[in-house]
Amino acid sequence: CAVAVLVVRRRMQSSGKWGRVSAILKAFEEDCATPISKLRQVADAMAVEMHAGLASDGGSKLKMLISYVDNLPSGDEKGLFYALDLGGTNFRVMRVLLGGKQDRVAKQEFEEVSIPPHLMTGGSDELFNFIAEALAKFVATESEDFHLPEGRQRELGFTFSFPVRQTSLSSGSLIKWTKGFSIDEAVGEDVVGALKKAMERVGLDMRVAALVNDTVGTLAGGRYYNPDVAAAVILGTGTNAAYVERATAIPKWHGPLPKSGEMVINMEWGNFRSSHLPLTEFDHTLDFESLNPGEQILEKIISGMYLGEILRRVLLKMAEEAAFFGDTVPSKLRIPFIIRTPHMSAMHNDTSPDLKIVGSKIKDILEVPTTSLKMRKVVISLCDIIATRGARLSAAGIYGILKKLGRDTTSKDKEEEVQKSVIAMDGGLFEHYKQFSECMESSLKELLGDEASGTIEVIHSNDGSGIGAALLAASHSLYLEES
Ligand code: GLC
Repeated sequence: CAVAVLVVRRRMQSSGKWGRVSAILKAFEEDCATPISKLRQVADAMAVEMHAGLASDGGSKLKMLISYVDNLPSGDEKGLFYALDLGGTNFRVMRVLLGGKQDRVAKQEFEEVSIPPHLMTGGSDELFNFIAEALAKFVATESEDFHLPEGRQRELGFTFSFPVRQTSLSSGSLIKWTKGFSIDEAVGEDVVGALKKAMERVGLDMRVAALVNDTVGTLAGGRYYNPDVAAAVILGTGTNAAYVERATAIPKWHGPLPKSGEMVINMEWGNFRSSHLPLTEFDHTLDFESLNPGEQILEKIISGMYLGEILRRVLLKMAEEAAFFGDTVPSKLRIPFIIRTPHMSAMHNDTSPDLKIVGSKIKDILEVPTTSLKMRKVVISLCDIIATRGARLSAAGIYGILKKLGRDTTSKDKEEEVQKSVIAMDGGLFEHYKQFSECMESSLKELLGDEASGTIEVIHSNDGSGIGAALLAASHSLYLEES
């Protein structure tokens, strides 16, 4: 995916300021390199860790969490259901009216609320109160069209996009926070219990029928429309994957064998790490200074929360050691997370000949009034290196799952019908960062080779996680026989 970098570097002089800039760029490019051989090593390591994580709790960096979802939506689900989606910088409340196979999602409404940053690192009650209040307000706007039968309690699918040790489909305790969240007292707490208490406090009568990770919701939402969906991947603020595993291939599962013979596994792949990952000095310091040092290493080089921050760190080194922005280092450049991934994506996508957008973003964010074309090209090269590494590693992760499932090659026996595998994708990074998603898809094809790539399809499951949670609430409703 990255092609522009070499050209930019070649055009730079080899001494003075540009020599130093070029040297930093070159070293960074080399440290981030993801040749196909490395991607294969990462995929193999991923498959190995999957086995280890399925064998025992704590057996691997990959938690391979049991979701208790052993039946994915069939299309027969009917009635009004709510969903609550918490896991990024925004949270979302939604209601859907499911109409069975004929009408599918007959009607849906949602509202998105951004979470005040202080609630992400404050107290548990404050966060859950805020959520319950927003939900109660939303419920109050329900119209007649959604029609809740007399005497029936409203039911909710709760998408909680953090690692949770589930004890049933509708209960589980938080293992740790990820992304920008850090509320110590909530760790180990029953997530549904905390939500229920907050709902009681605000006088909201609602039953939590399912607690799901966003990857699991996306898998359920994807399967609702496409029976070939075998895995779901989120590329957003964080990154993670879920897939359908044979129950007999999960040694750590001691419960009864599900009728379907299957169980959805939430991999928590963001926490993957391996000596094969191409990590740079910038990744090490980012990790060290983060809210969760030593954790979520794959997430910190792939996902939307961090890509812009990696760019900032490299630019800071260029400013300090090569006077990239002139004699002084722009003070804004010292502020962590000031360059967000949507900014980076907008710059990377700048196709104007004089890279106007790059210039205006640098001006707005870093308060650097003017930049030369040469400087803007360096910024584009950095975006390219960072996004390419993240995209290619995401492809390697998907390839690792396909390998684990034995779906990475076409069957040697031509008579045997080839099983199609669809990967349902969602998340802002996938949806809005064009270069990232295109590079991810082309790298996956490269890994699969011509023949096998025909049997693998990547689809965008738009807002699958919310709908998926509502669908799982529907298939685990108290009123199943009535609908
Ligand atoms: C983080 C969370 C994980 C979630 C992912 C995507 O990795 O730990 O549960 O699925 O972000 O939102």
